[in-house]
Formats: sequence, C-alpha cells, structure tokens
Amino acid sequence: MSKLRVAVIGVGHLGQHHARIAASAPEAVLAVVVDPDPVRGPEIAGKYGAPWMATLAEALPQVDAVQIAAPTGFHHALGLQALKAGKHVLMEKPLAATLEEGQALLDTLAAARQANPALVAQVGHLERFNPAVAALRDRGFKPRFLEAVRVSPFPARSLEVDVVMDVMIHDLDLLRALVGRPVVDVEAVGVPVLTPYADLVNARLKFAGGAFATVTASRVARKKERTLRAFGDKEYASLDFAAQKLELLRLVMGPEGPQVQPEQVDIQEGEPLRLEIEAFHAACLGLGTEGVTWEEGQEAMHVADQVQKAVAKSLAELGRA
Ligand SMILES: NC(=O)c1ccc[n+]([C@@H]2O[C@H](COP(=O)([O-])OP(=O)(O)OC[C@H]3O[C@@H](n4cnc5c(N)ncnc54)[C@H](O)[C@@H]3O)[C@@H](O)[C@H]2O)c1
Repeated sequence: MSKLRVAVIGVGHLGQHHARIAASAPEAVLAVVVDPDPVRGPEIAGKYGAPWMATLAEALPQVDAVQIAAPTGFHHALGLQALKAGKHVLMEKPLAATLEEGQALLDTLAAARQANPALVAQVGHLERFNPAVAALRDRGFKPRFLEAVRVSPFPARSLEVDVVMDVMIHDLDLLRALVGRPVVDVEAVGVPVLTPYADLVNARLKFAGGAFATVTASRVARKKERTLRAFGDKEYASLDFAAQKLELLRLVMGPEGPQVQPEQVDIQEGEPLRLEIEAFHAACLGLGTEGVTWEEGQEAMHVADQVQKAVAKSLAELGRA
C-alpha cells in the first residue's frame, strides 16, 4: 500500500512536532510544510526534508491529508478549504474558534462525505492518547466524581483566546469521554488576571446519570500541574498526565478488616501526539478507527461555551464583565 501524503499546516510551537512526527511516521510521508512565515516555514520544512509552501491552496494537489496546527482563528477557513478539496483533516484543538464555525465545519464535512464516505476528520484532543488515560479506560473504571487540574505559568502564546478554549478544553473532552455521558449542567467562575480574557477558571460539571466533575484551568500558576483524580465505587484513581503515571486505590478486605490498597499501574510510555497522529494516518488509510471525531470536538466546544457563559455571568455579578 502506498504511503499517505501529508501536509502540515502551520509549523509554530506545536506544528513543528506535527512535522517531526509526520516525517518519521511509518504509514505517511511529509509531502509539504505550509506556513506563511517566510523564515519559519522553510526552516522547519528543511529540517524535516519537505518542500515549503506559503499557502494551503498550493499544497492541496500534492497531498491526501492535512494536519492543521495554525492558530485557532484560522481553523475554520483552512478546514473548509481542505474538505472542499476532498482531503482528510486532523485539526488541532479546539475544533474552531466559535460554535458557529465548528458547526459550519461539520456541515461541510457532511457534504464532503456524500462524495467520499470514508473521509476522515479528527480533532487533536491528545490527552485521549495519553497512555495513562488509556490504562484507566482499559480498567473499565466507572467514575462518579472527577477532579481535573491543568495549570501552568503564564505562556507567551495563545493569548487571543481564554484559558477555557486554550487549556480547559482538553479536560472538557476527556471527562465526557471517561464518563461516557453528556454534560447536562455547568457552573463556573473565573477571572482575567494578565489578559483581557479569563486566565483562571474553575467549573463544576454535572453529567447525565449523576456523575460530577470539577475542573480547574489556569495560565497564571507558579508551576505546572496536569492531574486527574477519579472516584468510583470503592476505588479511586490518581493520574499524572505529564509523568504518565496512574495509581489505583481500592477498598479490599485485609486480615484486620477493610483497608485501602494502592496499585501503581504499569504504563508503557508513549508520546501522545505521536500516537494521535499515527492513529489519524491509519484511519485515513482504512487501517484503523481510533481518533477523536469532529462531532466530539464540537461537543467539547458546546461545554466550553457553557463554561464561558457561566464565567461571564459570575463576572457580571461582580461588576467586572
Ligand atoms: N494539542 C495540544 O496540546 C496543543 C498545544 C498547543 C497548541 N495547540 C493548538 O495548535 C494550534 C497552534 O498553536 P501554536 O501554539 O503552535 O501556535 P503558534 O503561533 O506557535 O504557531 C502557529 C503557526 O501557524 C502559522 N500560520 C498562521 N496563519 C497560518 C495559515 N493561514 N496557514 C498556515 N499556517 C499559518 C504561523 O506562522 C505559525 O508558524 C492552536 O489551535 C492551538 O490551540 C494544541
């Protein structure tokens, strides 16, 4: 079978890693690097042995699939262009900048699938591919309460969106996938600290069927933390995304009565972005079905929208909206 010809669109902070991985992926060849920046584009293209092009339009005839890692504000236009040319698309998270743009992408995907039902459209919610998360899911763990924390020092990037769209959206997608049911109620508070947008947000989600989650995202923390605690029936789990560590604690009957027994789960470490990109290539070649769909990406956007509205309401109550 011939390899998938891929273009990486946007090779900034994250896109350079898309290019690195596509260039060494077993099922694909990095056919083009696209970036309008005349310095950055050729630099990354040269590093990974691919030609550089300034626009997606020039690249489309050369490829079967695109991996879009341009700033979020461009996702909508670039995604539409790629779909209309019949190309498979891996879109970085979030799917789009607004719910309306996300819906337009889904509508265009439905139209494009009339011509090619096998067209693949995935979104880069890469924590789903974190081996520690996969280990938790493999255990069939049924969480009833979850607590996600994703905080980091102030970044120099992605400041055109709030911390919900930039950071919290990872957990909004992951929590829904772990619980396996939709979010039915959202409460949230948050504040702008160093930008005009909310830099620190805490949300409480209620899922259909009665599970709850609290989610904290901040880009004004002193140090990085990306963790998840999940509580089920007589067991709980503690997960560290960056360290790819998972500890399970269970109530068992010991010689002196009930006791909590910790188990450090063996994790085969792997780079989540590589696993996500290789799954996308496999799906495009008809060799696999793994990956986060655009429909799921839009569901995460819907929850993010509810969080943003709740934050705006809480700020209005404080007289700061
Ligand atoms: N999955 C993750 O964990 C993760 C992490 C970081 C960023 N992201 C997402 O990746 C995207 C890019 O973020 P970043 O931090 O790499 O941004 P960045 O600003 O570092 O890089 C963006 C690159 O895209 C290029 N670009 C701008 N307009 C373009 C266009 N029309 N066509 C092609 N390229 C264009 C820029 O020149 C730049 O090189 C965002 O959507 C962001 O949310 C995802």
